[in-house]
Amino acid sequence: MSKSNIFSRSNIENSVFLDERYLYSDFVPDRLPHRDKEIDSLVYCFEPVLKGRRITNVFVAGPTGVGKTVSLKFVLRQLEDYSDRAKSLYLNCFEYNSRASILTAIANFAGAALPRRGLATDEIFSTMLESLRKCGFVPIVILDEVDQLLLNSSSSKLLYDLLRVVEYEKQSIGIAMISNDIELPSKLETRVKSSLAQNTLIFNSYSPDQLKKILSERVDVAFVKSAVDKEVIDVAAARAARLGGDCRVALEALLKAGRIAEKENASKVTVQHLQLAFDSADSVSLLKGVKHLDEDEKILLKIIANESGINSGKIYSVYSSLKKEPLKERRLRDVLAVLEKQNYIESKQVSMGNMGKTKAFVLRVPKDSLLKELS
Ligand SMILES: Nc1ncnc2c1ncn2[C@@H]1O[C@H](COP(=O)(O)OP(=O)(O)OP(=O)(O)O)[C@@H](O)[C@H]1O
Ligand SMILES: [Mg+2]
Repeated sequence: MSKSNIFSRSNIENSVFLDERYLYSDFVPDRLPHRDKEIDSLVYCFEPVLKGRRITNVFVAGPTGVGKTVSLKFVLRQLEDYSDRAKSLYLNCFEYNSRASILTAIANFAGAALPRRGLATDEIFSTMLESLRKCGFVPIVILDEVDQLLLNSSSSKLLYDLLRVVEYEKQSIGIAMISNDIELPSKLETRVKSSLAQNTLIFNSYSPDQLKKILSERVDVAFVKSAVDKEVIDVAAARAARLGGDCRVALEALLKAGRIAEKENASKVTVQHLQLAFDSADSVSLLKGVKHLDEDEKILLKIIANESGINSGKIYSVYSSLKKEPLKERRLRDVLAVLEKQNYIESKQVSMGNMGKTKAFVLRVPKDSLLKELS
């Protein structure tokens, strides 16, 4: 390979990763620490299928990033490895958000060959029933983000379709629903609830110690030995715990930190790399919030974006030249304080020689993306 090739740096010697795919959020690990109880409950719901009995349909709820999706995938993968009486079908209701699309997916999973579009729902339903009778295994359907279905009445009819299958077809199908909304079952009609959400399983947030354990197991397989110190894992766990015990943000930050380290050709991932990774994730959400700022906040942010290190006196005069009505000094201070508190800007004390000290303001979010968001 020629040395000047722009891809030659992708051949870096100092990779910190053994295999970064272990950090991807859709990866299903071989072990799920701190979910033993939840996994046992799921096994208890599904194991009757091994003896040709009815499955207990289950509703799984809890905050984001606490292992709901991965635990169901894990249990059903093991079930499929163990027996061919059941097979799982994973449907995310963001993508499968209509009654017809879900019924079609189930019918095809059970061996029909329906086109994705164009048939009447009744026709799809009867084809689905027929293929369920013939397929020779029990499909267990995971409806992830199931609250999406309740947003409109036509897709919420799907739950009644499934109820009919469960009640009249002697449960030739198993249903596992997942949602962030713990209150969801109480929003369901009693009959739907008692058939499709027979068992409710709540996943709670992870504590910092639990996150440490989970993260260090993933780090062990994803990174080269000794590329990630314990301190880095501790910081990732602490930060994720503060964000509500969300394991996904921590894994994403570790992946990003590893990539930053590689880009610098460093042999270790440091706390600074991790901080940068978390900050850039934060700035994505900050940028999304720009449109909710008020008029003055937006103008001041723009002024600071255009002149990094500007002091409040100068901000005041730029503002006055832009607007006919000058900003009251008190209001100027308040707006700057709001922007700083929300992490859009940072202030530093700088000395002006014998004229004393002043505050200089700099941006904490990427300038180009911010200006685009403001325009
Ligand atoms: N106990 C655990 N052991 C190992 N990895 C875990 C564990 N819990 C969660 N994870 C990992 O954390 C990430 C988020 O988990 P998952 O996708 O299951 O969250 P979720 O509860 O479904 O969140 P959401 O409600 O946002 O969909 C995944 O990468 C998953 O592999
Ligand atoms: Mg999920």
